[in-house]
Amino acid sequence: MSIQDLVTQHYGGNDVSERILAALRAHGVDVEHLAVPDLAPVDNLHAGFAPATEYVLSCLGVGASSRLLDVGCGIGGPARLAAWSRSCRVTGVDLTPAFIGAATELTERVGLADQVSFRVSAGDALPFPDGTFDRAMMIHVGMNIEDKRAVFAETHRVLAPRGRFAVYEQMRTGPGELPFPQPWADDKRSSFVASLQDYLTDLEAAGFTIEESEDRTAAVAGPPGGPADALTPGVVFGEDFVRRIGNNIAATQAGILGAMLVVARA
Ligand SMILES: C[S@@+](CC[C@H](N)C(=O)[O-])C[C@H]1O[C@@H](n2cnc3c(N)ncnc32)[C@H](O)[C@@H]1O
Repeated sequence: MSIQDLVTQHYGGNDVSERILAALRAHGVDVEHLAVPDLAPVDNLHAGFAPATEYVLSCLGVGASSRLLDVGCGIGGPARLAAWSRSCRVTGVDLTPAFIGAATELTERVGLADQVSFRVSAGDALPFPDGTFDRAMMIHVGMNIEDKRAVFAETHRVLAPRGRFAVYEQMRTGPGELPFPQPWADDKRSSFVASLQDYLTDLEAAGFTIEESEDRTAAVAGPPGGPADALTPGVVFGEDFVRRIGNNIAATQAGILGAMLVVARA
């Protein structure tokens, strides 16, 4: 099976948006009048959840006039948050058709379809002309990508000159065997966790200039929080989520993994 098939099979469970809506309903959310903050506990599929996305958007300097690309947008949580909190236009791409379907439906439900659009696409073959965007982000995606340099080169191509790119990822921070399953993969076949130095080398080889890098591990530790504490991205990832997160936390505490942010300029 190809890496892309493994990834889309891993993430592409059925009825993602239905499961989310049912969980929100069960927690008293009026899903007929859904707002972006209602979704925040479940739709930002990365360490630190919605507050971590806000931090990335701040580092990128996203504002109302920004044209933002989200590479590996998942079910669209970070893209919706950007459009809602910064009034910008956002385009999300993702390999997994079921996630793009859920992203589109949830975005229509919160009334942001005019500002945010989604396309099924691999990060290394972006369906946009050169210089389409002035900001780009990639959040917890590269762990599934063997050739990150190819994705960075495509992102560089679709960014305008001096456009900014934020990469916020689970990276290898020390030696040791990574326990599986992790939230992004059942096993090594679709897991390509790399070090900060690997990321920096690949970004520079793709034409980027590094502006800053930051270890966000301590800052993003802990559950999503918010009004419905019982809601987590486990709604999206299914029953195995607790085990996957347990392995992820264990690897983080053992110094094998960390949540690292890099901001680069095209
Ligand atoms: C952990 S989720 C993160 C989603 C989103 N960035 C977020 O933070 O909510 C990883 C996403 O990366 C996508 N992905 C993995 N490999 C990809 C690739 N080569 N191109 C585009 N998307 C990819 C998966 O389909 C999945 O939706």
